[in-house]
Amino acid sequence: MQELTLFQTLSERHSVRKYEPGVAISKEELHELLQYAALAPSSWNLQHWRFLVIDEQQKKEELLPITYNQRQVVDSAVTVAILGDLEANKEAEGIYGAAVEKGFMPEHVKATLVGQINKAYSGDTTFPRDEAFLNGSLAAMQLMLAAKAKGYDTCPMGGFDKEKFVQVFKVPNRYVPVMLLTIGKAATPAHQSARKPIEDMIISNTF
Ligand SMILES: Cc1cc2nc3c(=O)[nH]c(=O)nc-3n(C[C@H](O)[C@H](O)[C@H](O)COP(=O)(O)O)c2cc1C
Repeated sequence: MQELTLFQTLSERHSVRKYEPGVAISKEELHELLQYAALAPSSWNLQHWRFLVIDEQQKKEELLPITYNQRQVVDSAVTVAILGDLEANKEAEGIYGAAVEKGFMPEHVKATLVGQINKAYSGDTTFPRDEAFLNGSLAAMQLMLAAKAKGYDTCPMGGFDKEKFVQVFKVPNRYVPVMLLTIGKAATPAHQSARKPIEDMIISNTF
């Protein structure tokens, strides 16, 4: 299959809810898609996303009631739960240490940044959660586009019982589920959807 251009991908991605059952995505291909997703930008390059890959039949069946019986989680090839890291500051030392080693960053810049990041994550604020959702969503979007460009269809899903999901899939406290994303081959095309006129979305300079 010929890969789509960026603009074809943006125009042709739609949320597919009916998948051809029995279609599998190889581990290698999924890793390639996830690698593209992980090229997303993130605050301080902390890479807040984690990808919980659900592709075993039994786990898909367990996921079904958690998604209020959205059948797509069973029929698609895989559901990827995008998790956001609530303690992403703990990654700073390692990420910047590697950057220093590669000569991308001097040691004193690393020390300043790590200090800033730890300060931002201290105290009882919504900041860690906001960051987990913000940055996790960028990776999710990038995953949808990478999948589409490679000939797969996706559906982002926020309609699931987050508490139950955490419990059944044993998600540690450190991570928060941002969204689920089904990936597979469409059995029937997505519902048509339109967008509001772009003029209604644009505010010039100030309200
Ligand atoms: C955060 C988020 C949560 C969503 N949750 C669901 C969901 O639980 N089930 C579903 O079928 N679609 C879900 N959608 C898909 C939207 O309904 C869809 O993106 C929207 O109608 C626009 O259609 P399109 O994606 O086909 O362009 C979700 C989309 C987003 C971005």
